[in-house]
Amino acid sequence: MHVRRSLLDLDDLSAPDLHYILDYAERIESSPDVRTLEGVACANLFFEQSTRTFASFNLAQLRLGAHLVNLSPKDLSLATKGETIEDTVITLAAMGFSLLVVRHSEAGFPIRVAKAFDGHVVNAGDGGRAHPTQALLDLYTLCREFGPLAGRRIAIVGDIAHSRVAHSLIHGIRRLDGEVTLVGPQSFATEDDAADGVLISRDFDAVLTDVDAVVLLRIQHERFDAMPLSMEEYTRDFQLNAQRLAKLATHAIVLHPGPYNRGIELDESVLSYAGWRYARQVAAGVPIRMAVLDFLVHGMR
Ligand code: NCD
Repeated sequence: MHVRRSLLDLDDLSAPDLHYILDYAERIESSPDVRTLEGVACANLFFEQSTRTFASFNLAQLRLGAHLVNLSPKDLSLATKGETIEDTVITLAAMGFSLLVVRHSEAGFPIRVAKAFDGHVVNAGDGGRAHPTQALLDLYTLCREFGPLAGRRIAIVGDIAHSRVAHSLIHGIRRLDGEVTLVGPQSFATEDDAADGVLISRDFDAVLTDVDAVVLLRIQHERFDAMPLSMEEYTRDFQLNAQRLAKLATHAIVLHPGPYNRGIELDESVLSYAGWRYARQVAAGVPIRMAVLDFLVHGMR
């Protein structure tokens, strides 16, 4: 029998699971009429703002034929009536919900939900910890471009320390045997994230000539108190601009999970660069999330 499962972190997927989801998303992209969650009750609990992730989970659930309820946190009894999140999800399970998608500013919050909920839980981002479906759609975009990632070098640039996107993506690239270079000032690119196959550099210009892809990140101001350097220093050293784009190899691509801040981690020239893959990442979010939801409910087939 298929074991009930959740996606709280990329670690929840074995190597065959990961490849299955990437391949399945590609099949869905070419023929999206996959109504395999017909009648499955899903609830989305987003305690933190979201545009891309929220909209693409909604679209994925609707395309799969699921019954869908979006619960706004301000309307939940736990906000004002003292109900715990554990009791909230026990209630949802009793009502027949079998899948929850959860985003929260607290690292580990979806793990608490999964412990209390008799059903599947998908982490849609928890604090600075993990964002597994974003990593999957980033990996999907990279693999569509390059095929296998072995021998490919991907630079992740900016506020890595506070980025759940970066933490999940570093892990995902390494799982597919790609090489990672983390680029940022000391308190954004720390030794905590260095590992086998994961280098750290403070010199963005030197890294640019040697990479197949650059992943830019927003500075996650909401997760720390004071900027470790002035914005002028940050943009001088770490902004991707026309001069830096000119240093990239002609095949190199640029990714960003969104939302991007013009004039900070990138300037306008990036938005018209031939290798700018932001729209492809966003587009991949729907088939990837359809593949994930189908896989959690039905397993590999
Ligand atoms: C990010 C997030 O919320 O983690 N965006 C996303 O989900 N696509 C990144 C960010 O907020 O900078």
